[in-house]
Amino acid sequence: MSRILFATSEAYPLIKTGGLADVAGSLPRALLGLKQEVRLILPAYPEARARMGKARTIASFELDSHQLNLLQGRLPGARVTTWLLDCPVFFDRPGNPYLNEQGQVWPDNAERFALFSKAVSLIAQGKAGIDWRADLVHCNDWQTALVPALLDQESRRPATLFTIHNLAYQGLFDQATFTKLGLPAHLWHHEALEFHHQLSFIKGGLVFADSISTVSPSYAKEILRPEFAYGLDGLLRHRRQVLSGIINGIDTNEWNPGTDPRLQQNYNRRTLAKKIIYKTALQQHFKLAEAPDTLLFGFIGRLVEQKGLNDILASLPAILKTPVQFVFLGSGQQEYEQALRELAAQYPDKVAVQIGYSEDLSHRIEAGADAFLMPSTFEPCGLNQLYSLRYGALPVVRKVGGLNDTVIDSTRENLENDSATGIVFTGTAGDDLLDALQRTQKLYTNKAQWKQVQLAAMRQDFSWRRSAQAYLDLYQTSLKRNPKPLLT
Ligand code: ADP
Ligand code: GLC
Repeated sequence: MSRILFATSEAYPLIKTGGLADVAGSLPRALLGLKQEVRLILPAYPEARARMGKARTIASFELDSHQLNLLQGRLPGARVTTWLLDCPVFFDRPGNPYLNEQGQVWPDNAERFALFSKAVSLIAQGKAGIDWRADLVHCNDWQTALVPALLDQESRRPATLFTIHNLAYQGLFDQATFTKLGLPAHLWHHEALEFHHQLSFIKGGLVFADSISTVSPSYAKEILRPEFAYGLDGLLRHRRQVLSGIINGIDTNEWNPGTDPRLQQNYNRRTLAKKIIYKTALQQHFKLAEAPDTLLFGFIGRLVEQKGLNDILASLPAILKTPVQFVFLGSGQQEYEQALRELAAQYPDKVAVQIGYSEDLSHRIEAGADAFLMPSTFEPCGLNQLYSLRYGALPVVRKVGGLNDTVIDSTRENLENDSATGIVFTGTAGDDLLDALQRTQKLYTNKAQWKQVQLAAMRQDFSWRRSAQAYLDLYQTSLKRNPKPLLT
C-alpha cells in the first residue's frame, strides 16, 4: 500500500471544465479500490466547497504571507478523502478555475497555481501540520507541475509522477512573474523552468518528475514529434525512458446507459431498440424534424481548434445537402460559436446548437445520437468517444492520440471479424472528414451492419479496472526511480 497525494486543479463532481475533472474524480476512487491510501487535493473554489458538503479544517498554515486552511471532506458519491486548499484571495471567486465570468484568463493564474503547488509540496512532505505524508505525489497538467521542481530541491522527498493531459496548455509567463513567485533562482535555466526566456510551469513536471505519463500510448509517441509538441519534443525525447501512456478509464457509475438516472428508460445491448426514445427526445429538444430514420450526429465539447471545428465547418455544407442531422453542445471560442449558430440558422431542421455547458444534456446526446462527431486534430485521450461507445453512438474520429487507441474503423475486414466500433479517418484535408461522414451514412443505410457495430462498441470495456492497475505499477516504478527516497 502506498500513500498517494493526487493533485489537480479540477475534479468531478466538485468542479469541471473538461476531461481532467472526469479523470481526477474517478481514478482516485479506483485506486482506493486497489487498497491505496489516496488523498485528493484541489483548490477550494466556491462551487467545490458547496458541493463537498460537510468538511472540517484539519490544518492552518502560512505560506508567502497568505493564511491557508486545509478542509477535509469526501468526494461526493465516493469514499475518497478530499482536501480543499482554502486561500480566499486566490480561489474564492466566481467564474471557473482558469477564467473569469467573461471568459478571460485570471491575470494572477501564475500566483494562484504557484501557491497551490507550493502548498501541495509542503503537505506531501508532512510539513503543513498534518500527521500524514505522501510516498508519491501524482501531479496533473501545468497547474500542479511546479510540485516536482519544488520537491526536487529537498534532500529527501516523496516520488513524483507528472501526467500530461494536454501539452497544448503549458502555463507560460514572463520572467518578471518568475521573480515575483519567489522560486529558487537557479530554476531560471533552460534545463529547468526557463523556456525561450519565459517561465514554463509544465517544464517543472517534464524536467523533474521521476516519471512522466500521458493519457494514451499513441499520444505518448506523438509528443516526441515536433508537430505535436510545441517545442517540447527535444526535452520529451531526452526523457523518453521515463515517459509512458496509460489510456483513461471512464466512471461506469456515471456513464452507463443501463443505469443512467438521467434516462427514464434505461437500455443495454439487449434493449438497444429503446435508443429511439432518446433520439426522438433529442430532436424535440433541439426543435429538429422528428425523423426516426435520419442519421443524427452529436457533438459535445470545448469549441476550440483542437476539437476539429475548422474541418467540421468546412465539410458540413456539403453533407447537409443530404438527409442528415447534427446537434452541437459546447462553448469556447466566439468565432466557432458564431459559425455554428449561423449554420443552424441556415439549416433549421438539420442543425441545432446549444451554446453552454450541460452535464444533463451531454448524457442525453450520447443516448439519442446515432453517431458521435469527434474529428479532433490531436487528442491526448478523449473521453467522449468512450462514452459514445458505451451508449451505442458510433464515434467518427480522426486517427490521432487516444482516438486511435480506442476506436476501431469499420473497414470491410473489421466488419467481417466483428471488431469494428466506429469510423476512423486519416488526413487533415477538409475532404477527409467529408469522406468519413459519407462512409458513416453508407454504413447507416445497412441497418443490420450498423447494429452489429453498435453492439461491438457497447461491448468495449474502458472501465478503470485495467488502467488503475497500470497506474499502480507506474507508482511502484516511480518509487524505485526516486533518487532521494524518504527514510521509512
Ligand atoms: P477535453 O478534456 O479536451 O475537453 P475530453 O473528451 O477528455 O476532452 O473530456 C471532455 C469532458 O467534458 C467530457 O466529459 C464532456 O462530456 C465534457 N464536456 C465538454 N463540453 C461540455 C459541455 N458543453 N457540456 C457538458 N459537458 C461537456
Ligand atoms: C485533456 C485532453 C483529453 C483528455 C483529458 C483527460 O483535456 O484534451 O484528450 O481526455 O485531458 O485526460
